[in-house]
Amino acid sequence: MTEHTGPTKPLLAVLAGQTAHPPPIWLMRQAGRYLPEYRKVRAEAPDFLAFCLAPELATEVTLQPIRRYAFDAAILFSDILVPPFALGHPVRFEAGEGPVLARVTGRADIEALDLARARSVWAPVMETVRRLRAALPPQVALIGFAGAPFTVAAYMVEGGGSRDFAAARRMAYAQPELFAALVARLEEATLAYLCEQAEAGAEALMLFDSWAGVLSPSQFRTWVMAPTARLVCALRARFPHLPIIGFPRGAGPMLADYVATTGVNAAGVDTALPAAWVAAMLPAGKAGQGNLDPMALVAGGAALRQEAERLLQDIRDKPWIFNLGHGIVPETPPDHVAELIAIVRSAR
Ligand code: CP3
Repeated sequence: MTEHTGPTKPLLAVLAGQTAHPPPIWLMRQAGRYLPEYRKVRAEAPDFLAFCLAPELATEVTLQPIRRYAFDAAILFSDILVPPFALGHPVRFEAGEGPVLARVTGRADIEALDLARARSVWAPVMETVRRLRAALPPQVALIGFAGAPFTVAAYMVEGGGSRDFAAARRMAYAQPELFAALVARLEEATLAYLCEQAEAGAEALMLFDSWAGVLSPSQFRTWVMAPTARLVCALRARFPHLPIIGFPRGAGPMLADYVATTGVNAAGVDTALPAAWVAAMLPAGKAGQGNLDPMALVAGGAALRQEAERLLQDIRDKPWIFNLGHGIVPETPPDHVAELIAIVRSAR
């Protein structure tokens, strides 16, 4: 068995702290609108949240990029806004507009969040995880995920997406007890949601803190690092060997503190950070994941090759998972993804 040699799936070996060259690769938003086969299935379910909660469809679109490109990991198809929806908070997706949520303004909005209800609403997600574990090829690792409490809270206070999440940041300063109550409730729900995914067969977990970068350093410690550290600790207690990837997008130099204190096994790295700096900063045994510019993938050709090869050199002596610095954008030509995989897999 694997007891003496560690994990055999390339992605899990890197998350256990091993170096691999070429590195394993998967891409954030690898299931999505850039793929014609995704758009076809998506057209069958116009309501995006219903789509996320349909195991048949969610399993199919998760597998599409695996079949096409043989990535080293599949990421569960769902969304970071499924848990607030499941908790009973009004969330909908408008075509061309992104997510629209009710705005949290007071205690009553937080007290209305119902974890017992959430468990039954998100049950189909766990069915998707079970189906994926049964269907995936043996070398491919299954990543489960959730939005981190701060980022989900930010959407709930703001009522949707935002350039700067000003309303959420203002509440965090002006009504810290209220914002803390929201984050605490989300922490509890996120723990339950991720534990269920682990029990259903997720082999690694990722926390998306997509808006961590709007916070000042002290607010980052309070709303990003502290809840993440508590979540990692609680997950570790239940699943000691389950690796956790934290992605505090926009953290900048705070990423070093984040890795040192939250206990994550790997740090997601956004495009703005020098990968060589991250590689040098990572403590022994911790992995990095990222950080090719999604626009280099859209451009393709010589620019893509140059950026990818530079990144491969910057990270070659560290445990690293090759990925983008943020999600694939819909205008990405599918052929460029195949090109990128060829570049990465021929690294020497
Ligand atoms: O392939 C995968 O990466 C797995 C599935 C996944 C989706 N969203 C599917 C999705 C994952 C991991 C997410 C995470 C997510 N969702 C994040 C964190 C990562 C990041 O991008 O920062 C955030 C902030 C969200 C919230 C969200 N979901 C927004 C803002 C939008 C609208 C923007 C857009 O691209 O339309 C979504 C919708 C969404 N989630 C789509 C997909 C494939 C597009 C919806 C569609 O098919 O019409």
